[in-house]
Amino acid sequence: MTKLGEVLGEKAVVGLQNMTAPRHPGSIAVINYKGGVGKTTISCLLGYYLAEETKKKVLLLDIDPQCSLSLALGFNPDEVSKTELTIFNLVVPDRWTRVTKTDFDKYVFPPKDSLAPKNMGIIRGAFDIDMLDIEIAKTLVKGEQQVEHLHLYCKQMLRHFEDEYEYIIVDCPPNKMFLTQAMLRACAYYIPVTIPDRISVYGMPRLLRWVREIEPSSKPKMLGYVLNALNRSGGHPAGKVISQQAAERRLVRDIAASMDADERSVLKDEPKLGELPRLDVIARFLSEEGYKWSRMEFKKETSMQKTVDQCLVDLAERVIERMEAYRAKA
Ligand SMILES: Nc1ncnc2c1ncn2[C@@H]1O[C@H](COP(=O)(O)OP(=O)(O)OP(=O)(O)O)[C@@H](O)[C@H]1O
Ligand SMILES: [Mg+2]
Repeated sequence: MTKLGEVLGEKAVVGLQNMTAPRHPGSIAVINYKGGVGKTTISCLLGYYLAEETKKKVLLLDIDPQCSLSLALGFNPDEVSKTELTIFNLVVPDRWTRVTKTDFDKYVFPPKDSLAPKNMGIIRGAFDIDMLDIEIAKTLVKGEQQVEHLHLYCKQMLRHFEDEYEYIIVDCPPNKMFLTQAMLRACAYYIPVTIPDRISVYGMPRLLRWVREIEPSSKPKMLGYVLNALNRSGGHPAGKVISQQAAERRLVRDIAASMDADERSVLKDEPKLGELPRLDVIARFLSEEGYKWSRMEFKKETSMQKTVDQCLVDLAERVIERMEAYRAKA
């Protein structure tokens, strides 16, 4: 038995090392290690719209220790004890020994928000998830390949949901924790989300380099960037304020410089996936307890520009189109 086999059990290690199968074909990591740019808002709303528009099932994964996505879907992480079925208990190292079992389903909950589409599920977040890195770091000191095994385990977990869930959206935290890295590599696609201001787009080249440095077999494909919190300028023909236009130009240049050949051919001249205005009706969605979401609210006209509802329908449609385009190339 190998040294790692003694730790994990030989059968589990062999199972993990043989995991060369493709990734879940509809898995998306929503990323940016800049905080507060709208990753959770976009993860949640994209999930709602994919579920409503396609009528297919959507699974949301909350891997952020802040648990914002779980809160948005009506859960109170304070009331969830350490032993319950959360992302923490799903990915702690002693679970990796049981990779052949398919009891992942127990971890999926219907949203508590009664207004959320019914064809959705969530794997709830846990405040303790940042402890996972400490556990992994301890074993790294001993020379184990835990990081790689965490990645293979995550990939296996996402693949398990392939038959039931057409789309999986992983709401990543604003950090590069081992779990964030593992999930990013386990997903087939990623969406960088940013606010178009100078400070927010400043870190984008580093974020893109981080993805580019992933080995080709595990590198997710970019579906395009999402611009969030646009300040609309009713009088301007482009509908955006000048400072945000400048930030977007810089963003487009950075993204264009980092695309691989497949991404260039699928995203062509439009690396943008979608955009959302900065509006109270969107802020309330995450921030207001008991807020009653409705598409009617999102359909209200503002500044004679695209409604929030139309922005989200377009975003979901583009996700579907681009996934199909990548699949056609494969
Ligand atoms: N388009 C928008 N218009 C108005 N408010 C918004 C918009 N997008 C996000 N917000 C608000 O901005 C705050 C941050 O958004 P969100 O939590 O989605 O960002 P995040 O990138 O997930 O943050 P973190 O990095 O902490 O996980 C929230 O209060 C949210 O309600
Ligand atoms: Mg978030």
